[in-house]
Amino acid sequence: MTDVDWDALQAAAVDAMAHAYAPYSHFPVGAAGLVDDGRVVVGCNVENASYGLALCAECGLISALHASGGGRLLAVACVGGDGAPLMPCGRCRQLLWENGGAGCLLLTASGVRPMSEILPDAFGPEDLARAGVTP
Ligand code: THU
Repeated sequence: MTDVDWDALQAAAVDAMAHAYAPYSHFPVGAAGLVDDGRVVVGCNVENASYGLALCAECGLISALHASGGGRLLAVACVGGDGAPLMPCGRCRQLLWENGGAGCLLLTASGVRPMSEILPDAFGPEDLARAGVTP
């Protein structure tokens, strides 16, 4: 299993957080993910005058993942404005699950935890496959 430099991943998330566009919530978020080919992809939250349309930092990360070649996420760090680990919202847990699966590791305030603990009994592509729906 790949060694994860958690300090570097958290630092990349903090750097991304500094680019957040959060003039409405004043709640900047940054996210960084280690990809299975060694790349590190990042995202920051981007808000909108139509409040409900805010893009979470993790959405940016997932977009960056695909825009830069795809792959699977091995490890993810999300941080808030204080640079400390921040738990992804429900929608973003689903995005991380889709792109990293049960074994993808997440930096949390209570240590490094697999996505199987962060989104237990997750709905995923296998549920569609069981019903005969394939990508
Ligand atoms: N936010 C994220 O970027 N990621 C999360 O997982 C939780 C929430 C953002 C959305 C919004 O711009 C701000 O934090 C306040 O909710």
